[in-house]
Amino acid sequence: MENITSPGYADTSTSNVKLIILTIACVVFVLAFLYYFFAPPAFNIGPEQPIPFSHRLHAGIKEIQCQFCHPFVARSINPGIPPVEKCLYCHKYIIPTHPEILKEHRYFNEGKSTPWVKVNYLPEHVLFNHQRHIRKEIACQQCHGAIETMDRIKGRQFKMGFCIECHREKKVNVDCWLSCHS
Ligand code: HEC
Ligand code: HEC
Ligand code: HEC
Ligand code: HEC
Repeated sequence: MENITSPGYADTSTSNVKLIILTIACVVFVLAFLYYFFAPPAFNIGPEQPIPFSHRLHAGIKEIQCQFCHPFVARSINPGIPPVEKCLYCHKYIIPTHPEILKEHRYFNEGKSTPWVKVNYLPEHVLFNHQRHIRKEIACQQCHGAIETMDRIKGRQFKMGFCIECHREKKVNVDCWLSCHS
């Protein structure tokens, strides 16, 4: 019996144990990592923004109208992301020394726009225009979800099927895909 536990044999078995422990540690780490990123509520949250701007707070709790900050949505192809001036319109007086608001001041003084991360995408060849939809009184929420409950907008990759489904339902021209793809 003594012979079996030669120094060499004992060494491989401890290094095997180390290897097993290391493997388990790795698996646990990877699972924890995946959980952290994909389990709710993190699952349903958008990318980090340069300033943690919350639609839940502004559009939800404070009930600021969408079109106050996105004023061109009904008039132009570009809905408009509010410039720093618009934030400071309120934040010159409201929590003016909050560190995130000071960040806004810095952007303003440097004449830079805030580098917001875009979260909604359409396939490149699709021409989408808010105007006609807003004019038909389709709520923002029908396409964007309950924005007023979101701290960080997750956004979406809009698919053709989503557009066509509603167009069929509302009996809107679906042939337009041919003419719009230009
Ligand atoms: C119509 C007024 C108004 C506008 C415009 C406005 N805010 Fe606010 N904001 C508020 C109010 C009210 C609060 C709550 C202040 C408090 O907590 O006392 C707030 C709070 C905040 C906070 C702090 C949130 C926290 O967790 O403490 C940040 C950051 C912020 N706003 C960023 C912005 C940015 C960026 C813009 C421009 C895109 C903006 N706000 C535009 C009214 C406004
Ligand atoms: C106080 C200003 C303010 C109000 C009010 C506001 N927004 Fe925004 N919105 C922003 C800012 C700033 C961004 C860019 C940062 C971000 O994505 O959170 C933005 C981004 C968005 C985006 C994502 C744009 C993209 O990247 O594709 C959508 C969609 C949107 N807003 C819809 C709405 C809707 C719908 C409402 C009303 C329920 C609303 N917003 C009210 C300031 C505002
Ligand atoms: C019929 C569906 C639909 C409705 C209704 C709608 N949107 Fe959008 N919205 C979209 C799509 C699709 C995009 C992505 C467009 C793109 O990337 O060119 C978008 C993009 C945006 C953006 C980001 C624009 C940018 O510069 O990246 C904002 C802000 C926005 N919408 C605000 C609103 C607001 C506010 C309302 C309500 C007044 C609204 N939307 C109603 C479909 C809709
Ligand atoms: C919730 C319903 C709804 C959704 C979702 C929707 N649409 Fe529409 N769309 C309409 C309605 C209603 C009209 C008709 C407006 C009018 O009569 O002026 C329309 C009109 C249009 C038109 C003009 C059609 C024409 O014949 O001139 C285009 C282009 C369009 N939509 C593109 C899109 C795209 C692209 C998407 C997906 C990103 C989309 N729509 C999603 C309801 C919707």
